[in-house]
Parts: sequence; C-alpha cells; structure tokens
Amino acid sequence: MELVVDRYYEDIGECLGRGLCGTCHVKLIEGSLNDTKDLSETKTLNQVNYVDNTSRLACQIILDEKINNLTFKIITDHK
Ligand code: FES
Repeated sequence: MELVVDRYYEDIGECLGRGLCGTCHVKLIEGSLNDTKDLSETKTLNQVNYVDNTSRLACQIILDEKINNLTFKIITDHK
C-alpha cells in the first residue's frame, strides 16, 4: 500500500493499513499471488464496490519478492 500511496494516490489508506476501510482496493490483473485473504480482509472487501475474485486490499499484501512481476489495478469508487 505504501508503494501505491507514494507513487499514485494520496487519497487511500484511511484506516492506515489496518484492512478496515477498503480504500486501497486493488485487483490482480496479471500473475498469481499465492497468499490467502484472511477473514478480516474478506469482510472489508465485501463492503466495497466492484469486488471480484481478483480483489485484494493493497495494505494486506506484503511487499516482497512474491509480488515481483505481478500487475495490479487500483480500483476507485468510479472504477
Ligand atoms: S488502507 Fe484501509 S483497508 Fe487498506
């Protein structure tokens, strides 16, 4: 999420990365991420728009080598 905020948007991250607000909604559009969403992330995603099975909360994705070469799309309220 820090990468997203630093480079693209300043208007996300209302909950400061606690997985509660859903403003950091992203979709994985290329590649696969082998970690799973926990119950809290799933619960928050169920409250935001345009969610599908590729949706994640950026703040819940750890920045490490596992996300090399993955492509995410930032989802805003107006798509
Ligand atoms: S910053 Fe709030 S859910 Fe990610």
